[in-house]
Amino acid sequence: MDAFSYREGKLFCEDVPAEELVAQFGTPLYVYSRALIVERYREFRKAFAAVDPLMAYSVKANGNLSVLRLLADEGSGADIVSGGELQRARLAGIGPERIVFSGVGKTVTELAAALDAGIYGFNVESEGELRQLAALGEATGLPAPVALRVNPDVQSPTPHRYTRTGHHDTKFGIPIDEARRLYRAAAQMPGLRLRGIDFHIGSQILETRPYVVALSRVLELVADLRREGIELEYIDVGGGFGIPYDDDEGLDAAAFASALLPLLHESGLRVVVEPGRYIVGPAGVLLTRVLYVKQLAKTFVITDAGMNDLLRPSHYASYHRVAPAELHPERESLKVDVVGPICESGDFLALDRVVERVREGELLVISTTGAYGFSMASTYNARPRPAEVLVEGRTSRLVRRRETLDDLVRGELDLLRPSFVPAGGGDDVGPPGPG
Ligand code: LLP
Repeated sequence: MDAFSYREGKLFCEDVPAEELVAQFGTPLYVYSRALIVERYREFRKAFAAVDPLMAYSVKANGNLSVLRLLADEGSGADIVSGGELQRARLAGIGPERIVFSGVGKTVTELAAALDAGIYGFNVESEGELRQLAALGEATGLPAPVALRVNPDVQSPTPHRYTRTGHHDTKFGIPIDEARRLYRAAAQMPGLRLRGIDFHIGSQILETRPYVVALSRVLELVADLRREGIELEYIDVGGGFGIPYDDDEGLDAAAFASALLPLLHESGLRVVVEPGRYIVGPAGVLLTRVLYVKQLAKTFVITDAGMNDLLRPSHYASYHRVAPAELHPERESLKVDVVGPICESGDFLALDRVVERVREGELLVISTTGAYGFSMASTYNARPRPAEVLVEGRTSRLVRRRETLDDLVRGELDLLRPSFVPAGGGDDVGPPGPG
């Protein structure tokens, strides 16, 4: 479906004009299409339907509670990486039996909270974590359900090295040989319930081959373990399924599924998948106003969204389409840098990009920002984070209000004035008090 389309030159999200959204909610603004999120979720699930997988949506891609609720209502589970994501998933109504917990640095507090909640499985990434869980399992009398996250040592062709996790020289997972030893050890630990095996090789992968290579390696280990009498119930193949950011088509879920399904079927194991970006990435845009157009050695289009609102271009040199929300094809196009207000040269949304000659005050749309957009936003430069809106047909709902200046100082203590309580009215934190 075309969740974001131009009608007579004006951008709509589903049936709501972008101008109407920003008139109501301001800019910068993240806008999500409900219909497209649901469509992407169903498409992915259908592609893998032959193995009826546990769909563990990767919360880090977009953890907005309403987005999670929408997916929970579709039957989704969650892949979480922190106690905060556990809380989000639970608040949104995702059952603990549909939650897997990934991440290299889970704290004891986080492990204990997830164990207590009764999650489906911990994707364990080190011997230390395994022992910690075993101790918790013994102490609580609740054996911890574990899978080892194996590092299959494959090169994953992602657009940036920061998003590759399947190679032996990254911090992620446990090398296959070591995993063999740890499975044997874990099988003897009464505080554990050995359940599965897991891998995740990176993010924004547009080829099936690295998955097939990784899966084959991991299934060899499963077979070896089986021969030793260690039987596993599930295999988690992680996420990373790529989407098109430019006009190129990318791969669809069916392509990933058809490459993986034969091996998965043969394994006889329950399958867990952890897609994040695939489901929400295309379903969101960032709307931003042009503040100024500045003609120097280059033309700079300065927007009210910066790297704090959308980090991907500056952090990974990622490409996002940029266009005016109202097209005027009669205008000339020119090459510009689209930059934010942050005091850093690395603060940009697009470099050397050919766009229509836009004017100050115009609205721009930054496409395909539903994943790792808001979720990576910060308040750098003391900038409140944007609002988020979910559109359904003709209806738009604010699903996260824009942060206020008060929000930004809440929780800070003024050590120079022990009695100071930063909870002023409006945006004013009050005049300095005595002494
Ligand atoms: N499972 C695990 C264990 C992960 O680490 C990740 C992503 C996922 C699943 C979901 O991956 P997805 O299907 O969304 O590609 N901030 C980067 C992406 C970092 C992904 C980190 N892990 C970006 O903006 O491209």
